[in-house]
Amino acid sequence: MADLATTGPTSQAAPARLDPYSLRKDFPILATSNRFGKPLVYLDSAATSLKPLAVIEAVDGYNREYSSNIHRGIYEIAERATEAYEATRVKVARLINAPEPAEIVFVRNATEAINLVAYSWGRRNIGRGDTIVLTEMEHHANLVPWQLVVQEMDGDLEFVPITDDGILRLEVYEVLLHLRPKLVAFTQVSNMLGTINPVREMVEMAHAAGALVLIDGAQAVPHVPVDVQELGADFYVFSGHKMLGPTGSGALWARRELLEAMPPFMAGGDMIREVHLRRSEWNEIPYKFEAGTPDIAAQIGMGAAADYLMGLGMEAVRAHEQELARYALEVLPREVPGIELYGPAAELRGGVVSFNLPGIHPHDVAQILDRSGICVRAGHHCTMPLHERFDLAATARASFNVYTVPEEIDALAVGLREVARIFDR
Ligand SMILES: Cc1ncc(COP(=O)(O)O)c(C=O)c1O
Repeated sequence: MADLATTGPTSQAAPARLDPYSLRKDFPILATSNRFGKPLVYLDSAATSLKPLAVIEAVDGYNREYSSNIHRGIYEIAERATEAYEATRVKVARLINAPEPAEIVFVRNATEAINLVAYSWGRRNIGRGDTIVLTEMEHHANLVPWQLVVQEMDGDLEFVPITDDGILRLEVYEVLLHLRPKLVAFTQVSNMLGTINPVREMVEMAHAAGALVLIDGAQAVPHVPVDVQELGADFYVFSGHKMLGPTGSGALWARRELLEAMPPFMAGGDMIREVHLRRSEWNEIPYKFEAGTPDIAAQIGMGAAADYLMGLGMEAVRAHEQELARYALEVLPREVPGIELYGPAAELRGGVVSFNLPGIHPHDVAQILDRSGICVRAGHHCTMPLHERFDLAATARASFNVYTVPEEIDALAVGLREVARIFDR
């Protein structure tokens, strides 16, 4: 394969509106190679994204220059740490167009955000016989916390089914809404099928039925423009590490009145206004939900990631990744005989392509690709019920990001042909 950092596309893919070739220089890891000397072909961005220098330096800068705790210190470096931490709240609010930074609660990841809502809002608002509507395509993070809530509170879960093309069946969703659910929770973009769901329409339908809505934006915020006000959602969650930020960073957005009415999730320092031996008063939002010392460096890094994405422009990011999905859906079936692809057409999907080579376990596929420096994920991608829906034990998944170039999809096709050859298929 040619030098990915410097060459232009040799493929038929339409020109992208952002220039992935020049921005690849921002990601130092892309200059590395594996134990066989093969350059890194990173196609696992849905698991976690690579980090640009701006993020690496933001984390490093905190640790080197102003490492101190936030909100308490009255000396220079502590004030600097608080400022940088709170600046991230402003940047993240801007990225998703939240009405105010105080509605952004910092968490470690999307999983923690959903657990926060399930524990705090769910246990207060879900009662015996109440229904929560989810979909068959949810990541375990947006399923298991709700299982715990309904088990404890004696409620029920219902699921919006999907078509064979991986599209939510909205006509069934409409029927499920007749049950007057208290909450509807669904992913904006499926991490296995890549499906981009019609979230605005789904929120409207849920609200008309009197339900609140939680949107899992873990695979959306890094890839498509998100405007929580336009979506009309009540809760919106995402992880920093999938949006070019560090692991250990993430956010929950919720409407002020919901956050104010919710009891704390975790208790301890920082989340209180007053503490007495037998009672305490909670701090204002968002601090009420941020007990203890957070991962300050990681959240500051997430702020740098939000700046980086906004600098690229989310419309351009979306256009680039849609082009990659279209290219993959065209090239893989043509170049890899027998490959099975899952999910909808490129117009309806993000930069995610799950697949199987018949008769070859995806773990074997991933292991052989690894020799060529190609990183794909193999397994159930934390969507076991979705795999059951398609009668699959596992799939391999290639997923893209701003730094992905069509040549990497070409490399995947070559690698998959090699896998088939080794297995004599
Ligand atoms: C759609 C979706 N939701 C939630 C999560 C959970 O994210 P995290 O592990 O960062 O909490 C993931 C992670 O892959 C995901 O893809």
